[in-house]
Amino acid sequence: MSGKSREWIYLHHKYVATTTHDPENLPLVIERGEGVWLYDVDGNKYLDFSSSIGVNNLGYPSHPEVVKALVEQASVLAHAAGTDFYNPYQVRLAMKLAEETPGEFPKKVFFGNSGTEANEAALKIAKTSTGRPLFISFIGGFHGRTHGALALTASKSVQKKRQFPWMPGVFYVPYPNPYRNPWGIDGYEHPDELVNRVIEFIEEYVFDKLAPWDEFAGIFFEPIQGEGGYVVPPKNFFTELSKLARNYGILLIDDEVQMGLGRTGAMWAIEHFGVVPDIITTAKSLSGGLVPIGAAIFRSDLDFKQPGMHSNTFGGNALASVVALKVVEVVKTLLPNVRNLEGLFRDELVKLKEEFEKVGDVRGLGLAWGLELVTDKRSRKPDVDFRNRVVREALRRGLVLLGCGKSSIRLIPPLVISEEEAKEGLRILRETIKSLA
Ligand SMILES: Cc1ncc(COP(=O)(O)O)c(C=O)c1O
Repeated sequence: MSGKSREWIYLHHKYVATTTHDPENLPLVIERGEGVWLYDVDGNKYLDFSSSIGVNNLGYPSHPEVVKALVEQASVLAHAAGTDFYNPYQVRLAMKLAEETPGEFPKKVFFGNSGTEANEAALKIAKTSTGRPLFISFIGGFHGRTHGALALTASKSVQKKRQFPWMPGVFYVPYPNPYRNPWGIDGYEHPDELVNRVIEFIEEYVFDKLAPWDEFAGIFFEPIQGEGGYVVPPKNFFTELSKLARNYGILLIDDEVQMGLGRTGAMWAIEHFGVVPDIITTAKSLSGGLVPIGAAIFRSDLDFKQPGMHSNTFGGNALASVVALKVVEVVKTLLPNVRNLEGLFRDELVKLKEEFEKVGDVRGLGLAWGLELVTDKRSRKPDVDFRNRVVREALRRGLVLLGCGKSSIRLIPPLVISEEEAKEGLRILRETIKSLA
């Protein structure tokens, strides 16, 4: 790290609240971005395989059409009390989101500013519409950091440290992680067995002890766990989960904050699993990397029955709505690129797994890939130190990576990445692992 970066990092930690920075492994002070490239304050250039944690899926500063929409709208109307006054911009976006999400039923949309807020809205919608207080979420899942969403989150202990009581009434159950689950099942070889165990667990250890038909409002899930390590569940998991939920009138709440909007090669990750959720939450890349926005898209019949039960200040912001509408349109045009590059990532990452003892598991879809690093293949013991060294060394070599899970790395380049750029990133990743393994 050279002079200017060091100085900004020092000043940052002096004046800005502590959040999730890791100056030792990711000392990146970004000045500007162009396409899939980032430039730091010292003039160094990096290829970005992080999309700024799934936000800049259209690259930097954003897709030109989205920037154009933002600039034009900024001189027309940005904010005008979207939850008290009406505006056509949020209606257009709501119509588009309703059209683009699974389910042939009428839908409505609640607008907020972030993923956690979208999940808070989903919680309230589920509670008020069912009249039930309890929820299920999955171990390893991440749904945000406000007190309701934090209650759904079962990721890292530090996220909850000194915060109890968060919202009561959430029961955590194992996620069907094919590589690492409580039963030691190889979920790639025996996906049905893994799915059955999870469903049985919910039935026998949760529903059998509490009354599912009048206590449980919803099951929150990520279709692919993001912060938890880019974990892809077996193909039929959500079908089985859906049968269980439908049996008891429990809502399926699909958190697409990280995996939605084209990341997996489908508009929504749940489409790979053929299940229709009752509520879908989205945020991150809906913003085009330009304006904070989040949304909960839900069955119209679940809507609040009285004005004032839930609202906010910035929901339905005209500028954010115009940007997000353009983002959805642009993402649709990028899906073929994501699908085309899936094979390149799969082939190269599987090769890494075959070659290196430290690469325990490789999983993903589209441009959402996770690499789990272990001390050795037999023990599968997470190697956190090795993971951190890979992130650090890759950055030194000009590739931005982000950790996830205990010892995994996520590879999530902007969806606009070209084949050449993807190959270049994968080359740096290989060289990095080779140099350290
Ligand atoms: C799946 C998922 N849900 C919710 C959130 C929370 O979103 P935000 O940080 O915008 O509140 C995140 C953030 O990483 C996420 O990955």
